Amino acid sequence: MQGLLELFALVGQMTGLNRESLTSDQTTPSNASLAYSPPFYPSPWMTGTGDWAEAYQQARDFVSQLTLLEKVNLTTGVGWEGEQCVGNVGSVPRLGLRSLCMQDSPVGVRFADYSSVFSSGQTVAATFDRGLMYARGYAMGSEFKDKGVSVMLGPVAGPIGRSPAGGRNWEGFSPDPYLTGVGMAESVRGIQDAGVIACAKHFIANEQEHFRQAPEAIGYGFNITESISENVDDVTMHELYLWPFADAVKAGVGSIMCSYNQINNSYGCQNSKLLNNVLKDELGFQGFVMSDWQAQHTGAASANAGLDMTMPGDTSFNTGYSYWGSNLTLAVLNGTVAPARLDDMVMRIMTPYFYVGLTLDEPEINFSSWTKDTIGPLHASVGADIQQINYHVDVRRDHGALIRNIGARATVLLKNTNNTLPLDRPKFVAVIGEDAGPNPWGPNGCADRGCDNGTLAAAWGSGSADFTYLVTPDSALQAQALQDGSRYESILDNYATSQISALVSQANATTIVFVNADSGEGYISVDGNEGDRNNLTLWHSGDALIQNVSALCPNTIVVIHSTGPTLVGDWYDNENITAILWAGLPGQESGNSITDVLYGKVNPAARTPFTWAPTRESYGADILYEPNNGEGAPQNNFTEGIFIDYRALDRTNTTPIYEFGFGLSYTTFEYSDLTITSANASAYVPTTGMTSAAPVLGNYSTNLNDYQFPNSSFPYVEQYIYPYLNATNASAASMDPNYGQTADQFMPPNATSTAPQPLLAAGGAPGGNPALWDVLYTVTATIRNTGDRNGEEVPQLYLSLGGPNDPRIILRGFDRLSIDAGESATFTTNLLRRDLSNWDTVQQNWVITDYPKTVYVGSSSKNLPLSQSLSGNSTSTLRRRFSH
Ligand code: NOJ
Repeated sequence: MQGLLELFALVGQMTGLNRESLTSDQTTPSNASLAYSPPFYPSPWMTGTGDWAEAYQQARDFVSQLTLLEKVNLTTGVGWEGEQCVGNVGSVPRLGLRSLCMQDSPVGVRFADYSSVFSSGQTVAATFDRGLMYARGYAMGSEFKDKGVSVMLGPVAGPIGRSPAGGRNWEGFSPDPYLTGVGMAESVRGIQDAGVIACAKHFIANEQEHFRQAPEAIGYGFNITESISENVDDVTMHELYLWPFADAVKAGVGSIMCSYNQINNSYGCQNSKLLNNVLKDELGFQGFVMSDWQAQHTGAASANAGLDMTMPGDTSFNTGYSYWGSNLTLAVLNGTVAPARLDDMVMRIMTPYFYVGLTLDEPEINFSSWTKDTIGPLHASVGADIQQINYHVDVRRDHGALIRNIGARATVLLKNTNNTLPLDRPKFVAVIGEDAGPNPWGPNGCADRGCDNGTLAAAWGSGSADFTYLVTPDSALQAQALQDGSRYESILDNYATSQISALVSQANATTIVFVNADSGEGYISVDGNEGDRNNLTLWHSGDALIQNVSALCPNTIVVIHSTGPTLVGDWYDNENITAILWAGLPGQESGNSITDVLYGKVNPAARTPFTWAPTRESYGADILYEPNNGEGAPQNNFTEGIFIDYRALDRTNTTPIYEFGFGLSYTTFEYSDLTITSANASAYVPTTGMTSAAPVLGNYSTNLNDYQFPNSSFPYVEQYIYPYLNATNASAASMDPNYGQTADQFMPPNATSTAPQPLLAAGGAPGGNPALWDVLYTVTATIRNTGDRNGEEVPQLYLSLGGPNDPRIILRGFDRLSIDAGESATFTTNLLRRDLSNWDTVQQNWVITDYPKTVYVGSSSKNLPLSQSLSGNSTSTLRRRFSH
């Protein structure tokens, strides 16, 4: 019943809108057997710990000057298409603060012109190169900054990629939490160093598109009333899904977007267990939680459960109503939300603002998401306030070169027989496939890239951006062929079977077949794929195309652009297929990047950031495509726990086709001399003690007359969300006929407490207990380039934690080293306390178990020539020192 209590919590004292959602929420937890998320209150107030201190003080000085209405104005979006960005909150003109602008996407400025489209997160993950991950973040951040954006809505760690068919996996990095964690941390640092706030999303377990929102699901034929519940146990949450968010918090991320889905039958944006307990308390998150668009379902309940900003502000697009705005003003006035909670919400917004270097006199936003016209409405929702809205500012700098470089350095060479690659002035190049050419409707011919026409350089949804240009493989390869004096012909229609057959069967043909598999966000359906892929095969009969070509041409090279693995089992070992490359989603320089690799201008070293399994079933976890709980929330039980991707295949002894971490080079490397040195770190000390009481920043009047809409000279915009009350009587202002009738007994214990709270053992600082980040061991190995070409190598460290419930191995270190032919380099990586720990559900803390631990080093998750037991070194020391 506690779950019910949490859902009932507080809503009675809010508006009719809340009451509606309460009624429907009851359907889910009524079945006691369903997964359950316990309540956790009050919402932890930030303290400005660590390097947040200076920004915290700046924010405190600022927030202390704000009125109640101004504070509410900063927490609440102005409504869908209310201003220029995909989300804006209200401004504080009195103190010079203009509206904060929240803008997609994780690959570039969505809906803008003269900006760049970068590679996807999954693609940059394949570089296994921290420097490139940072550089990409910094370059993107600079473009957002120059357009006037305050918060860039990325990077993504949810989805992490539980199932390979997950529609948005490409927005994130990898189903491996360690690799994703590195991607998150480097991206956050890069973005924020460029002067905008990063937003790590979607918190959490946002692993599939199907059923993420009930109205969307109704749109494709499923009559459900609530979003899917992703049911995740405590160990899996900590060791897999939360892990990369911890890295983002440790790296100083300023905001986190809560997700559409429910987690254990409590909505992501009102899940007090996850927002209050796990994110803000345990991980010590110092920034703000913003809702995904329309992912808020309650007013006071979501505020007390840890939500700090509602996006885009209206209950659903363009209703003109908000769960917050006036209702939050009223909730503070009637005590349902403590004033200190509102203060904390605003402190959490303004502290990151100053932390990344934003100021009170930021230049204006210089673009509009809703039109490319120069002149247009400021309030696009209602077509009001016509003015210059687009300044067409070119923010690209020389980012094309970086994007080209990342695209090449992310291209994974999966197969290369007979030294087919690199190409050296081939006599005759035949390029086959739609995926090599342009979209006949232009690179932006489908809104939010919502189609699969032409080469796949960016996938679909809000995670996309508009191309300023797109270099296709066909154009880049033709330019190379002309330079080399090669014969060059391309056929860009997958179904031109007779023409293709005639061409590729000619003498001397080096045939490059381009194929793809697309996916995206659930509000767009492409070829019947509702975001998530329906299957793992190639699109536009790509598998048949490869088979037809390779039956005729003994030198067939395959290039795959995709949002994840595809099933290659039917053709990968055909001996006429001499090379296979995965090029991910490379962004605007796609053609140049692949040409650089095919012709050896870049010696490949990328590694596949996911497993290429023999069958779909071998991945263990799949998408839930059919509702399984009547009209209630579909229940998606993550019964596989932490065993996704390579961990799943290892558990069932399934041999992958290409294993996680695999990728070839044009040279060869040899590994030797593994050394492990203990850092003699001091013992792990659980955090103890109490917080201080919640600070209160300023006074406010309790007279409702002081909160009315300003006088008639104040311009009122239809549908725009304001913090003002529209009546002097609370009941009337709430528009709730039952206002005030629901008794306080529905308030969860402590929901509005401002008293000191106990600190958590696993908490204590951003990223969790600081000792989790202590170095326990330093591992080194020697790597020699034994070939005759200079190259780069990605040594990887895997760890066996040794327990019966642990995966065979897990990634816990990597680097990308440049090593000239005949030379050696030293791979050095640190093992942190967290790397060696498991989550203990009883202690609610990380522990290093007594199970024997082994370190492996090599070039992929299956090629690990070096290994050493940590016990030889110091397991006993380890036990004594680090377990408790
Ligand atoms: C919904 C998506 O899930 C999210 O990633 C995006 O940032 C918002 N829409 C805003 O477009």
